[in-house]
Amino acid sequence: MTKKILVLPGDGIGPEITAEAVRVLNALDLKFEMEEALLGGGAVDAIGNPYPEATRKLAREADAILLGAVGGPQWDSLPREQRPERGLLGIRKDLNLFANLRPAILYPELANASTLKPEVVAGLDILIVRELTGDIYFGQPRGVREENGERVGFNTMVYSESEIRRIAHVSFQAAQKRNKKLCSVDKMNVLECTQLWRDVMIEVSKDYPDVELSHMLVDNAAMQLVKAPKQFDVMVTGNMFGDILSDEASMLTGSIGMLPSASLDQNNKGLYEPSHGSAPDIAGKGVANPLATILSAAMMLRYTFNLEEQALRVENAVKKVLAQGYRTGDIYERGTNKVGTREMGDAVLAAL
Ligand code: IPM
Ligand code: MG
Repeated sequence: MTKKILVLPGDGIGPEITAEAVRVLNALDLKFEMEEALLGGGAVDAIGNPYPEATRKLAREADAILLGAVGGPQWDSLPREQRPERGLLGIRKDLNLFANLRPAILYPELANASTLKPEVVAGLDILIVRELTGDIYFGQPRGVREENGERVGFNTMVYSESEIRRIAHVSFQAAQKRNKKLCSVDKMNVLECTQLWRDVMIEVSKDYPDVELSHMLVDNAAMQLVKAPKQFDVMVTGNMFGDILSDEASMLTGSIGMLPSASLDQNNKGLYEPSHGSAPDIAGKGVANPLATILSAAMMLRYTFNLEEQALRVENAVKKVLAQGYRTGDIYERGTNKVGTREMGDAVLAAL
């Protein structure tokens, strides 16, 4: 049966990197039907809406979505509802993509790219599971109001039991497929909302006696990630803490240009995107690293289409090009072969 993939190139380097991932998907000779649509700043410029109705319709019909990146300085001064980021938050919420999987893997060839000592990060392989459709990102009430003659800004951190329970199940199941260790990150010493988070995690853990559950306060987790990151296997946390910790974890691996992500709904329909942003400073120059987007396509093959063998084929091709010495600027070091976006894509295709 033909599967529908919606491609959302987005802004900045988005179009360049998604083009390479699309070439890789096409090279696998699977029955994919691909269509492109607008999201983010480009959509604001063309239609005045970062998540246009036409994109919404195609996104709902698609089996999976491949996204480049959104945003750029030219849209930063627009009203909040017209900012590119709103498009991204809108599609996540609209499609109920509550489970965000962000692996941080250190490829041995890139051990020197990390700012941490090689012995601290060598062999690093962690998975951050971030809740993506709740928390202070979407909580009401929110805004800025006048109070006693001054402006007061406010947001609401909120999680329902069912929201916590469903992300808990995703993270326990992910841990079962790995080293069976799950660390839940909260701030229960201060925030009631995250006390509930911890309580529900403990309740759900009864269904997974084979997984060892631990808890960590978010400030300590931020410290432990740079002190001894290899103690972690799977980490699960809320939307806000997950945003911050996943950027931190990405840097352990040296380059955010290598890290894919998947955002899944209850039925494993997913949106796949690199963990990095739109990098407007290098957009259009053909130098961006397409590997995170190519690895995101591999996650799509695995999680939405259940094509484990094909996913491994793509991941192994990426490992091979690294072993062959191909490097884009972000991961370049002396003695390796510096290539651009398209040449990196060519190398992956050849390795396939
Ligand atoms: C991310 C990004 C987004 C987020 C922004 C662009 C809205 O930082 O995917 O981590 O905060 O979720
Ligand atoms: Mg972020």
